[in-house]
Amino acid sequence: MTAQSQPWTATVLTLFPEVFPGPLGVSLAGKALERGIWHLDALDIRAHAYDKHGSVDSPPLGGGAGMVMRPDVVDAALASVADRPGPVVYLSPRGRVLDQSVVRELAGEPGLTLLCGRYEGVDERVLEARNVAELSVGDVVLSGGEVAAMLVLDAVVRLLPGVMGNAESGADESFESGLLEHPHYTRPAEWQGRRAPNVLLSGHHARIRQWRRDQAERITKARRPDLWARYVGQTDHEPEDDER
Ligand SMILES: C[S@@+](CC[C@H](N)C(=O)[O-])C[C@H]1O[C@@H](n2cnc3c(N)ncnc32)[C@H](O)[C@@H]1O
Repeated sequence: MTAQSQPWTATVLTLFPEVFPGPLGVSLAGKALERGIWHLDALDIRAHAYDKHGSVDSPPLGGGAGMVMRPDVVDAALASVADRPGPVVYLSPRGRVLDQSVVRELAGEPGLTLLCGRYEGVDERVLEARNVAELSVGDVVLSGGEVAAMLVLDAVVRLLPGVMGNAESGADESFESGLLEHPHYTRPAEWQGRRAPNVLLSGHHARIRQWRRDQAERITKARRPDLWARYVGQTDHEPEDDER
């Protein structure tokens, strides 16, 4: 174990606990899991069903397509993990949209409980009664919260102390400075007639830093005008002629 005395604890409430850890069991997140930097419990919501059939859903009141997860079952599942560290979050397309600042906030918590919906989602009353925050992974509709939970956990775990070594430090990555990241190149210096930029072979660290910053600005401006506008507003970036 590293800096933390207690592992950062992820609790996932799902109808499909068997899909975890999935991709979280390999590479950075998987090694951190093995080293005890974080801990993962994927718990079966169906274990809290009240009837012998294990029913967790019911048709929507008022009619309409699909099924809705029952409030009594979801409430019992949430009650069973009420003593777990960190906020309780329902993964939902209606939620606050995940970005790197939300990921950083979550990494600063002692842990996180993620409720994965299926079908049409969860009965509204249990979300109200338990004051559950909602988090979306983007303006798309997934068939269940499990892939979204993995996405959130992957992004959070890599920011936990001791997960990334200095060499892999996230400081330069996309979004950390408000910009998308500069392009990367590796050996061979020339491949299929395409040469890597000379500056990267120059050994001149200040020029390389400046080149990377210029590239990050160029790419952000071209691809993400929303990020670019925020960046220009927040930094002392000198506008070029075409931005005036
Ligand atoms: C088919 S979706 C339900 C969609 C819901 N009827 C709607 O239109 O908003 C089933 C579950 O997948 C998860 N899900 C779907 N899209 C998501 C997203 N963009 N972010 C987070 N979770 C999502 C949620 O847990 C949701 O309850």
